[in-house]
Amino acid sequence: MIKITLNNKPVELDVDPQMPLLYALRDELKLTGTKFGCGAGQCGACTVHLNGTAIRSCITPVSAVAEQAITTIEGLADSTGRLGESAVQVAWREFKVPQCGYCQSGQMMSAAALLKATPQPTDEQIIEHMQGNICRCGTYQRIKAAIKSAAAHSPNSDLSASHSPVNKNGVEIFDASKQGA
Ligand code: FES
Ligand code: FES
Repeated sequence: MIKITLNNKPVELDVDPQMPLLYALRDELKLTGTKFGCGAGQCGACTVHLNGTAIRSCITPVSAVAEQAITTIEGLADSTGRLGESAVQVAWREFKVPQCGYCQSGQMMSAAALLKATPQPTDEQIIEHMQGNICRCGTYQRIKAAIKSAAAHSPNSDLSASHSPVNKNGVEIFDASKQGA
């Protein structure tokens, strides 16, 4: 029996210790928000948090997370200590980020981990952190815009030099008054 803390609740798993965590979440625990994409650690669809850090659950055996804290998309709001939705989820809805939606729980889990570690990321930090999360629908501009919005709504917001304003399609807004004459 393998014990984990899943979305702030104790859970016992009676499975092969080598079973990928993704299979345990989806097939044993029926938490299907976390998706199977490549099964090889390459696409990010299966991203969950291990003690607050983003991991690929498709290549993580259950034995590797014993006695540790796992958060899935179903527990993301609770893990932030807020009621309702996390800032990332609010921003995702505000910017209408998903297209087909398949990759998006993984995208949000990666984004939340980024903002936890780096509350005010630069564009370059966002791109670098998120580059392992693949979106076949090409929603990357809206993802970046939503992450910036979520960061802007944090209590420590400082939207200074590292952020360019964007519209709700994720397109940066050109401000001629700041370009110099
Ligand atoms: S399904 Fe895990 S990285 Fe693609
Ligand atoms: S929204 Fe379709 S794969 Fe990302």
